[in-house]
Amino acid sequence: MTDFADRYGPVALVTGASSGIGKAFAEDLAARGLDLVLVARRVDRLEAIAADLAGRHGIDVTILEADLARPDAPAAIAAQTVSRNIGLLVSNAGFSMKGDHATNDPAEMTDLLMVNCHAPLQLTRSFIPQLRARGKGGIVLTSSVEALIGCPYSAAYSASKALVKALGEALWAELRDDGIDVLTLCPGATESEAAARIGYDISKMAHVMKAADVAAQTLDRIADGPTFISSDHYRATFETLTAMPRPDALIAMAVGFRASQAS
Ligand SMILES: NC(=O)c1ccc[n+]([C@@H]2O[C@H](COP(=O)([O-])OP(=O)(O)OC[C@H]3O[C@@H](n4cnc5c(N)ncnc54)[C@H](OP(=O)(O)O)[C@@H]3O)[C@@H](O)[C@H]2O)c1
Repeated sequence: MTDFADRYGPVALVTGASSGIGKAFAEDLAARGLDLVLVARRVDRLEAIAADLAGRHGIDVTILEADLARPDAPAAIAAQTVSRNIGLLVSNAGFSMKGDHATNDPAEMTDLLMVNCHAPLQLTRSFIPQLRARGKGGIVLTSSVEALIGCPYSAAYSASKALVKALGEALWAELRDDGIDVLTLCPGATESEAAARIGYDISKMAHVMKAADVAAQTLDRIADGPTFISSDHYRATFETLTAMPRPDALIAMAVGFRASQAS
């Protein structure tokens, strides 16, 4: 058994495992020899990923269908996995909304709050006792570089990811004496299905990372929390923005977004 599997295995639970960064986490964890519980709504996707990973790596993969926009979903996931020895929680499911906050769909905003914020709050709350009882393990939370400053025309999403980053930082300090590593991943633009969902053409975007690289680098750094910004480009961009007087940074971002929409 590898040191990683000994510390964070035998089972990892990954939410948002049906595509993008979550699927890449599942693939990397399988290669590290961990059994998996994969969570998402699209069961057909999860079944295909489970069959592939079980076949290639000889691991056990369980799939759980869950709509994390439902308030009771995190508790149901915890109840269904209580007998498993889960050493690593990867709370990764999430989605974004862009555009004018005043005209965005209020129902979608509620779903965003549930999936991006309620789910990580409740899942961490549910899994910490069993991680504590083991005396070892980890939690990975997927936030975003948009957590680092309020991003105009991405207000709800940026705010939701700020909650995730604050949650992860707080838990990092709360749990370090319990042998539980907490790392909050703040990705920049990464290949996934997220861009297409909000109408962006990822092939025309610069500085886009591969999901496999983001997942691998995150898992390699899991003990080096509290946060990990996976993109050098976006780390430099956001360091520049957050070093500016805040009104100047926010106005520059708003002007930049409006210009990108006009072009
Ligand atoms: N890609 C980027 O550039 C980027 C940058 C910063 C942060 N992130 C964050 O990275 C995480 C993963 O996103 P991604 O980029 O990999 O996008 P993605 O390919 O669209 O994957 C999103 C995952 O979340 C799941 N999900 C969404 N809504 C859900 C719901 N109601 N219930 C259960 N699962 C749900 C999806 O599964 P189902 O649809 O099958 O349910 C899917 O597996 C998100 O938290 C996102 O905010 C991404």
